[in-house]
Amino acid sequence: MRIVLVGPPGAGKGTQAQFIASHLSIPKISTGDIFRANVSGGTELGRLAKQYMDRGELVPDEVTIAMVRDRLGEDDAQDGFLLDGFPRNVPQAETLKKILTEWSLGLDMVLELVVDEDEVVRRLSGRRTCKKCGRIWHVDFDDKKDDICDDCGGHLFQRDDDKEDVVRRRLEVYGEQTAPLVQFYADEGILVGIDATGPVEEVTKRALSALRPLEK
Ligand code: AP5
Repeated sequence: MRIVLVGPPGAGKGTQAQFIASHLSIPKISTGDIFRANVSGGTELGRLAKQYMDRGELVPDEVTIAMVRDRLGEDDAQDGFLLDGFPRNVPQAETLKKILTEWSLGLDMVLELVVDEDEVVRRLSGRRTCKKCGRIWHVDFDDKKDDICDDCGGHLFQRDDDKEDVVRRRLEVYGEQTAPLVQFYADEGILVGIDATGPVEEVTKRALSALRPLEK
């Protein structure tokens, strides 16, 4: 199964991706996570990406596309994948289509997480991520009173790009560059939108039931 998750910052893509990918036994490929790992590792790619991420802007397409092409070529992605955060504009979507066509492959579904802007801001302002295992938490919704991951004991941190002014810019960039993707994939006939409000487990159930027709 080859799936793309799309939705505004804070819609819950990363949260749902971890459950969906594990349910379907396919790798979750998050461009945001790959960039953040490179920033932490102090690589040249990380240094470049950080300049854009800290401003809430998109990392240039040529850099992002080359990185995704390499990742999709790895062994674990040969039987399917779940893309989270890519593609993020129409040129990236067109290039992804070209790459998959070259490999005689195609996307099975694009799942859109639909949630309004007020909820997104509430979610992002309380988000914490585990430094060790990457698990995403929320200070209020998960009732997190300390900065320790309940799963692995790792330290939780707040992302630099979750500051209010950067969140505002990320939402603008989503409206200008990423929202047009929804129409692009609707025209391709593979877009399915689900209501991404309510408890995490309810959203996961809706996502899995939208994907069920693809399961053999
Ligand atoms: P990226 O990491 O992809 O960020 P994003 O798309 O802005 O999405 P987020 O990770 O902020 O949100 P999410 O939808 O995953 O929400 P989450 O599950 O964490 O990208 C970061 C940056 O990298 C970009 O700005 C750009 O610079 C660069 N980049 C990445 N991809 C790129 C590309 N393709 N091209 C160019 N540049 C690229 O949930 C948020 C919070 O809400 C959490 O605390 C969670 O616990 C909580 N939550 C989730 N679901 C629920 C629920 N149902 N109820 C209550 N709380 C919930």
